[in-house]
Amino acid sequence: MRYRSISNTLFIKNRDNFKHLMQSNTIAILSSNDIKHTNADDVMGFAQNNDLFYLSGIDQEETILVVFPDAYRKENREILFIKETNEQIKIWEGEKLTKEQAANISGIQRIEWSHDFEKIIQLMTFEADGFYLGHNEHIKRVTSNQQTQQDRLILWCKEKYPLHQYYRAAKITRSLRPIKSQEEIALIQEAADIGIKGFHRLLKAVKPNCKEYELEAELTYELVKNGGTRHAFKPIIASGANACALHYNTNDNLCKDGEMILIDFGVCYANYNSDTTRCVPVNGKFSKRQKEVYSSVLYCLKEGAKLLKPGIEHTEYERQMATLVETQLIALGLLNLNDIKNQNPQKPLYKKYFMHGTAHHLGLDVHDVGLYSKTIEEGMVFTCEPGIYIPEEGIGCRLENDYLITQNGNINLTEAMPIEIEDIEKLMLA
Ligand code: GLY
Ligand code: MN
Ligand code: MN
Repeated sequence: MRYRSISNTLFIKNRDNFKHLMQSNTIAILSSNDIKHTNADDVMGFAQNNDLFYLSGIDQEETILVVFPDAYRKENREILFIKETNEQIKIWEGEKLTKEQAANISGIQRIEWSHDFEKIIQLMTFEADGFYLGHNEHIKRVTSNQQTQQDRLILWCKEKYPLHQYYRAAKITRSLRPIKSQEEIALIQEAADIGIKGFHRLLKAVKPNCKEYELEAELTYELVKNGGTRHAFKPIIASGANACALHYNTNDNLCKDGEMILIDFGVCYANYNSDTTRCVPVNGKFSKRQKEVYSSVLYCLKEGAKLLKPGIEHTEYERQMATLVETQLIALGLLNLNDIKNQNPQKPLYKKYFMHGTAHHLGLDVHDVGLYSKTIEEGMVFTCEPGIYIPEEGIGCRLENDYLITQNGNINLTEAMPIEIEDIEKLMLA
């Protein structure tokens, strides 16, 4: 593994919490993601099913976790199935996890080979009343007609065992994963720290006529050098008006003198993610207008971060953030008070310049799982990312930090990433 070992007490505790929320006499089965193919014989990088990782720590394909807390035989209460290696795999791909390694990583005593899954599960099935199976329950999930490993497991299980009850494993993991443990917070902090190094390195490479992808390369260098798994998402390096396309990521333009560049990027470390945005002037000095817009967004970020604390409803938080940005849009001369008074409340005018949400859960997923209908609680990690986008002026500005919610407020996990105008200019001129 590129990342440091994680104590298996994290996964043991996660499984214990999961088991407490299961119906009695049921079996949970969670499977790993498929390895996706590109063309011919090449593959995209492997990204583990995050629910499986959360409950086992296993970061390898063809893994299945079985949890049956009420099993009559103790050895059936937790079983981890992993891929059995062979000489061919060893020659072409190298080592796979041994049973002993898998037991150490997960804290699960009984490890079996994946090809024995159907045979072994059949021996336990008729003792149980139901199954918990995994599925993608993210509110913004992208569905396609391609079957996932989870889809196949659901079809297989329901066909083979039609008279059992079926339950949603994601309902449980979605209720647990938003509250981060100390070990998870440490991993998110490690991801953020690599991102901070990357930002410092990128700053040194910014100059008129540099390419956006050259800046992406600086981030990638620090990410790989420090044991990051991958970018948390394809980085957004958007100069000038490109920054007004919220998820612009072709990163193939020239950064021109006088423009500002928006850099929205994250680091995935041990499957945990950071997500940060900074804006910097191509020539090292913000113009008067860039300074005005930047200062407005920074004000919203600072004020918005103060609102991120236990007890506030997520929708109320977003409403207050929108009001903050609206006030700044008036100050910038982009909206006027009269028009706002007469606006259609269903189509508020601020949305022309600020069209996205401000805070999302952060963790094993960048837009991590969690119910946005609920209140914010201690132990959650949220981004705060206000923005103002003015295509007609060639300016798009978003600033984003990551916050751990504490008992009375929050801790900024990305505090060390420069954000004040003077600090950015000083570093760029150094
Ligand atoms: N880059 C995606 C986000 O900030 O949420
Ligand atoms: Mn972001
Ligand atoms: Mn974000």
